[in-house]
Amino acid sequence: MSDRWFMKTFLLSIGLALVGLAGLDTPAPTYDQPYRPQYHFSPRKNWTNDPNGLVYFAGEYHLFFQYNPFGDEWGHMSWGHSVSQDLLHWHELPVALPEQNGIMIFTGSTVVDQGNTSGFCSRGKPCLVAVYTGHTPANGARRALQTQNLAYSNDKGRTWAKYAGNPVLNLNLPDFRDPKVFWSEQSKRWVMLVSLPDDHKVRIYGSPNLRNWEQLSEFGPAGATGGQWECPELFEMQVNGTSDTRWVLKVGLNPGGLQGGSGEQYFVGRFDGRRFVNDNPPALTLWTDYGKDCYCALTFNGLPRGQAPIMIGWMNNWQYAAAIPTSPWRGQMTFPRRLSLRSTPDGIRLFQQPTDSLQHLREPPVNLTDQSVDQLNRNLSSAAFGKTRTFELRSTFPLGAAQEVGWKILAHDGSSTIVGYDTQARQLFVDRTHSGVVGFHRDFPVRTAAPLSLSGKLLRLDILVDRCSVEVFADAGRIAMTNLVFPMAGEQKIEFYSKGGQPGPISVELSEVRSIYSQKGANSF
Ligand code: FRU
Repeated sequence: MSDRWFMKTFLLSIGLALVGLAGLDTPAPTYDQPYRPQYHFSPRKNWTNDPNGLVYFAGEYHLFFQYNPFGDEWGHMSWGHSVSQDLLHWHELPVALPEQNGIMIFTGSTVVDQGNTSGFCSRGKPCLVAVYTGHTPANGARRALQTQNLAYSNDKGRTWAKYAGNPVLNLNLPDFRDPKVFWSEQSKRWVMLVSLPDDHKVRIYGSPNLRNWEQLSEFGPAGATGGQWECPELFEMQVNGTSDTRWVLKVGLNPGGLQGGSGEQYFVGRFDGRRFVNDNPPALTLWTDYGKDCYCALTFNGLPRGQAPIMIGWMNNWQYAAAIPTSPWRGQMTFPRRLSLRSTPDGIRLFQQPTDSLQHLREPPVNLTDQSVDQLNRNLSSAAFGKTRTFELRSTFPLGAAQEVGWKILAHDGSSTIVGYDTQARQLFVDRTHSGVVGFHRDFPVRTAAPLSLSGKLLRLDILVDRCSVEVFADAGRIAMTNLVFPMAGEQKIEFYSKGGQPGPISVELSEVRSIYSQKGANSF
């Protein structure tokens, strides 16, 4: 063995050892796991469920979220915290409100106290006040207790103090939760909605200062009552963009949602600052989303006056939330949606569209107009678009003679997610029974459907795909359908299909959506 050879080998092994050590120190890519959403919010690690305390303040959108700081299953519920200036790039901050003294921090809302009505704001400046449910779990003979509580921040949400006089509302009940608070211009006071889950009721309270609350009214039971009512919401909206307004009262339902497990319904009516009056017969049930995976959606407080509400939901379902195959995080949010109320032949209905902020992430689109099915599929397969799993697909087509028509997306080796329309049943549907990994829970492989009559027989489908989610907005947002999917690894195809006849000429705009993590300003810690 020559000395030179020995020296070379020695140096090489030291080099390799150093590289190895460095390798050990190099964390795995934080946001590039196969199912990691690339333009939807997900926490860096651990469990999340409902969005909480959505508020716009001093140029920042705050997204708090039900969070377990210690693991990827539900527990130790606290408020995680993220901020964004554009509703796209989220900067995750330390936990805002941790579990303390055995009291978990359940869902709630945050308001901007402009006039220091609470007395919590310092230096004459507006402050943030969070209103949340404190949940003390049952212990032996002692049953659980849920009460409403306050915390406040004078530094743009960076640090929080819990109010020493908590709780501010206590009915000594084990189920009494999810306060949604907003400032009522009508009655010039704070209004809080809280759910009485098993009674299928929403209690409405009023307060001049966020500390002392008096009951104003109650709403429910009405609509669907198959499970517990949770996460109530109430907001005013213009009808058809005019000065005529209505109030939307939304409430989560678990179980008992339309597609099984968690789902959300809404009521359209009037609110005078005290009482919500439903415009429709109590038995009429209107669903906000027809998929399985949009729950406890919340709108932002503090948006500039006159701006349409922006809503974010938890993209999951309690049936299988603990079993979804993602790691080291579990749970993610929907893309933010701009809401509108529009008159339809059936009455006034809620419409949803992804917020315009998406345009900042769109790559230049592939535009294909007036195509036959064959032409379109040939063009799509040669568009070298196959590999992306993060895209927006907008298409419009007359139904023509087709009996069933639509898209097979995230297709790989026999598996795909189908977004289709059944012209006989007049139903929009998403079929994920053969979408890839579906066996982790028996309630996962399903087909979700929504009634959709098309007067002009022209279907417009806008689909957002982000690695493990498919959000469909049909007919300009009249139907929203949100579903998780866990496709097989490898190249993914997009294909148009029709059965029983040909549709009319198809027009498509297909844009890859850039990752929020690959740009300046992306999440950083
Ligand atoms: C809804 C919910 C809320 C509760 C929270 C607890 O998903 O059950 O009612 O506040 O989750 O994490």
